[in-house]
Amino acid sequence: MDQYKVYGNPIKQSKSPLIHAEFARQTEQAIEYTAQFSELDEFEQDIANFIKAGGKGCNVTVPFKERAFKLADKVTNRAQLAQAANTLKFLADGTIEADTTDGAGLVNDLLANQIPLTGKSILLIGAGGAASGVIEPLLEQAPAQLVVANRTLNKAQQLADRFLDKGNISALGFDELNQRYDLVINSTSASLSNELPDIPATVFTKSGFAYDMVYGDKPTVFVEWARQNDVKLALDGLGMLVGQAAESFCIWRGVKPEILSVVDKLRNGELTK
Ligand code: ATR
Repeated sequence: MDQYKVYGNPIKQSKSPLIHAEFARQTEQAIEYTAQFSELDEFEQDIANFIKAGGKGCNVTVPFKERAFKLADKVTNRAQLAQAANTLKFLADGTIEADTTDGAGLVNDLLANQIPLTGKSILLIGAGGAASGVIEPLLEQAPAQLVVANRTLNKAQQLADRFLDKGNISALGFDELNQRYDLVINSTSASLSNELPDIPATVFTKSGFAYDMVYGDKPTVFVEWARQNDVKLALDGLGMLVGQAAESFCIWRGVKPEILSVVDKLRNGELTK
């Protein structure tokens, strides 16, 4: 059976094995997909060992996405722009191809939930690895503006500068946020520690949307906060997780699984190990 893994540190919490097992069932593909903890200084060696053992590909999560990108012999344009990869494909000739599917996963989930992007003003909070992977796919939807805001302004500025020729993108510090946005996306790692980014609630609009790229068993603090501020719909990142997984599955297997039913099954606790 073809073997795939997801590498991370930590990795125990990963839902990817459940998701890929469900995709395999749905598309009638025979694959094995497991979660693999990698020591911080052993990631490259672990990948080499997996290739030697006949592995066909892997997903890569925090904190290895930039290193996965560097390992590749060939990278897609979107991975090049993000300077990070979450999907590696191991070819028969021993070479490694890298792609990043996080951004496509996010945009697919936004569109699947009828959240309009074209002509809209979008605020992206955070300027780390999670943000860099989603900027190009968001700009491809031709929003009126994409503003990247970060606690550390300098990082937002540097990130926005990389995409200046791809659309109307700019950077702001949190204390400069004085406008409402149709969609507010949280890409910071703040939700992981139950914290809110220190931005004003006036960024939300009643007819607008909010999206937290993080997900949990219950709504994240950011999703709760956006709901208190009466946005039309606030979602966590579970759909993005399933969406990026579906893109990875398609890269490896050539067939795209259906997403929304898998999100529902995960939310209802129907997928278990
Ligand atoms: P990731 O790859 O998950 O994006 P990262 O590269 O470490 O992780 O970036 C984390 C992002 O979350 C950064 O934008 C960080 O802001 P700084 O650049 O100012 O550090 C942001 N972040 C983390 N905790 C935060 C908090 N409590 N409030 C606001 N921003 C936070």
